[in-house]
Amino acid sequence: MAAIGTDRGRLAAGVILPGADRLAWYFMRISGIALVGFALGHLFITHYLNVPSETTFAFVAGRWANPVWRSFDWVLLLAALWHGMVGMRYSITDFLRRPLWRLVAMSAVVIVGVLWTGLGTITIFTFDAAAAAANSGPWAGELWIADVLGYSLFVFAVGTYVGIAALLVYVARSLRSGVVPIYNGDVGQYAWVMHRATGIGTVFFLLVHIVDIMLIGLGAEIYDESVKFYGNPFLLPMEIALVGAVIYHSLNGIRILLIDFWEMGTRRERQLFWMALVGTVVLTIPSGIIILAHEL
Ligand code: HEM
Repeated sequence: MAAIGTDRGRLAAGVILPGADRLAWYFMRISGIALVGFALGHLFITHYLNVPSETTFAFVAGRWANPVWRSFDWVLLLAALWHGMVGMRYSITDFLRRPLWRLVAMSAVVIVGVLWTGLGTITIFTFDAAAAAANSGPWAGELWIADVLGYSLFVFAVGTYVGIAALLVYVARSLRSGVVPIYNGDVGQYAWVMHRATGIGTVFFLLVHIVDIMLIGLGAEIYDESVKFYGNPFLLPMEIALVGAVIYHSLNGIRILLIDFWEMGTRRERQLFWMALVGTVVLTIPSGIIILAHEL
């Protein structure tokens, strides 16, 4: 998308895009800026200062005793969920041609968005630490619920590993045969494919994560049972890949904003891509070391 300051940019954003698209365009950028603080802040607390298996009942109850952290987590929920849901619109319009299928897919996205907003909001604002700690709720003893969610993380991990392995095999085979895999090797297109893959991957993790956190309202025991799964060695590469995905998507998101709003952005898009890639590797390694050192 051309920089909004140029005629092309104004044309692209102002004149061509009908109302809903234009609204979505701006929403993605404003929520993206908010998520640089909220999502990366959350990631820093849960994957650098602590590791996911340490985000136990006591950890969350301690944070939510302070209304500031409850508000922080609620804004994060709304920004990440709806940025992701509106982001899904791009894939739906790209891949689904038939108006009926588009309508069905978009309706599903809105229904999931509203349901998960409700789930997350109820979890955050009705959380009663004393009652949950007493494990007195009707579902408190149903530890199988935690296991079902724990094993859904395994399914998510298998999907992540198979996806990464398939991509690597595809690129290796293409390079060995001397064929540049996609888009004739244009850096901008690689940046876009990785942006979409990391965005969609993070959305699906987010949906599981919100249901996972919801368990805290059912009782301390059931919640801590589900958090234990994060210490399982099989899930660790997925947790590190998630850190890398959110960081790459955020840095490339900032690159997109610079291309859109900075006069030099379009001319510097290649350098900005390499900076986003190197930044992702440099910022993900410490989290990987912290998680592996703690869990293994
Ligand atoms: C929780 C974190 C986040 C999730 C779940 C998420 C999800 C998504 C998804 C699914 C898309 C659509 C990708 C596509 O199909 O092209 C997207 C696009 C985008 N995201 Fe994010 N994102 C997150 C954080 C961020 C952050 C921190 C930024 C930083 C600025 C950002 C900026 C953008 C931008 C600019 C777009 C592109 C919109 C366009 O092509 O017009 N996102 N995001």
